[in-house]
Amino acid sequence: MGGPAEQPIIELRDVSKSFPGVRALDHVSFSLRPGECRALVGENGAGKSTLAKIIIGHYTPSEGAVYVGGTNVTEKSGYNVRSSQAMGIAVVHQELQLIPEMNGLENLFIGSYAKRFGLVDRKAMMRKAAEIMDFLGSSVDLTVPIKELRMAEKQIIQLAKAVSMQAKMIIMDELTAVLQEKEIENIYRIIRVLKQRGMGIIYISHRLDEIFEVCDTYTVLCDGRMIHSGEVADVDKDRLIEMIIGREMTQIFPPLNDKFGAPVLELKGFSAGKAFRNIDLTVRAGEVVGIAGLVGAGKTELLNAIFGNYRTTGGEMYWKGEKVNFRKPSAAIRKGIGLVPDERKQLGLVMNFNVVHNITLPSLKRFKKGTMQHKQEREQANQVAQLMRVKATPQQSVVKLSGGNQQKIVISKWVLADSELFLFDEPTRGIDVGAKAEIYKLVGELTAKGKSVIIVSPELEELIGTCHRIYVMFEGEFQTCVSGEQKTQSHIISKLLGV
Ligand SMILES: Nc1ncnc2c1ncn2[C@@H]1O[C@H](COP(=O)(O)OP(=O)(O)OP(=O)(O)O)[C@@H](O)[C@H]1O
Ligand SMILES: [Mg+2]
Repeated sequence: MGGPAEQPIIELRDVSKSFPGVRALDHVSFSLRPGECRALVGENGAGKSTLAKIIIGHYTPSEGAVYVGGTNVTEKSGYNVRSSQAMGIAVVHQELQLIPEMNGLENLFIGSYAKRFGLVDRKAMMRKAAEIMDFLGSSVDLTVPIKELRMAEKQIIQLAKAVSMQAKMIIMDELTAVLQEKEIENIYRIIRVLKQRGMGIIYISHRLDEIFEVCDTYTVLCDGRMIHSGEVADVDKDRLIEMIIGREMTQIFPPLNDKFGAPVLELKGFSAGKAFRNIDLTVRAGEVVGIAGLVGAGKTELLNAIFGNYRTTGGEMYWKGEKVNFRKPSAAIRKGIGLVPDERKQLGLVMNFNVVHNITLPSLKRFKKGTMQHKQEREQANQVAQLMRVKATPQQSVVKLSGGNQQKIVISKWVLADSELFLFDEPTRGIDVGAKAEIYKLVGELTAKGKSVIIVSPELEELIGTCHRIYVMFEGEFQTCVSGEQKTQSHIISKLLGV
């Protein structure tokens, strides 16, 4: 890390940012030196992404100023995403700045095509790209259009782009939310090398263990205000949680419900082509069942098949003892099944609908008595939103909400629909530590009422803490089902790898 006299790469002086009705940032001062990795943490909606977007010139501060390499760029008109890039600021986040129709290679070199005799030198580009991908330890195919890649791959390309443009600093906004354990280890390695090369990094994540792996310093935001800042070496995880949620957290996982009823869902030899085969699964009333597995193990396909959203090719499904075959989600919803998908923005929400209309979507029938009962609809949606502690006004369109609040709305709609079986596909992705605990508590409350839950999650700690039993899936098949004493990280990991 550089000495104190070293000029910061970036500095925010007393920056505020208001949106209609929201003070997203409130007098924030913040700086980053070469070689420093600073964690930016805080609850959903605290203002982290807004801060990132101000740095990259996507938003202009309402007050205060941004300095890049000592120059006040807020004074200069026309500081925008393009000029921030030219000044060496890169960002990796889930709202992509890649061009979906172009392939990885083209995206890597947009604006900086290697030229030879005035012509684009494709070979040189390929060589350079191969070097970068090698450094990143990645095998993402650079010849297919970006839109055909999965989110994790898209993010690797953004990272590659940052490296190729020799950025001075890079903002990683929840980069690891879509990555797997192994890929995250790789990210740690990359960050360490980049730091040594003098790159500054702003690291935004809700997975606090990561902060202790790679970050030197931290800043905690709360309702747009910077409330704590310091050296990571001086704090531990409990203290950091306390700073983030403003209170001590004694218990993240509530005790498991121990009263089970009859089986609600049973799968026998359930199969869907290449996605998964011979799945035998039982969930009883009041039970939480987990599914662990690596990317591509078939977990998401399995949940979707149960929900009538993915075609099966064999096997049987029983709902409360009765043989069923859901050909579309509406049939599953009618029986009382709700899916919280992993891609909430594409599948879980209607982005231009407001909070109320998203929550009541699967329950509309209930409010149709001759004419639409708008008042009832609003009241019931509000009740659930409050129960879930959604931070938003009822009429707000969900597109502008923070990720965590969007997720809570997806869950809210199935709570209102009074579902009996909740299918959760990575329910706490991008969710802050306080809200995670609330979701776990909710799972506990649902099961105490006799509801059932199936959870798919890459976080083993989460599965171990919330599930009675965990099925381990490997290449489309269940390897084993662990419970009780066997519910340990090491045992599950060995099964995850098919050992
Ligand atoms: N373009 C916008 N218009 C209106 N409000 C916005 C806009 N962008 C963000 N907000 C609001 O500003 C606040 C801060 O949002 P921001 O996305 O920065 O939070 P965050 O800390 O990144 O949260 P998360 O952890 O959920 O990603 C939230 O209340 C959000 O709803
Ligand atoms: Mg954010």
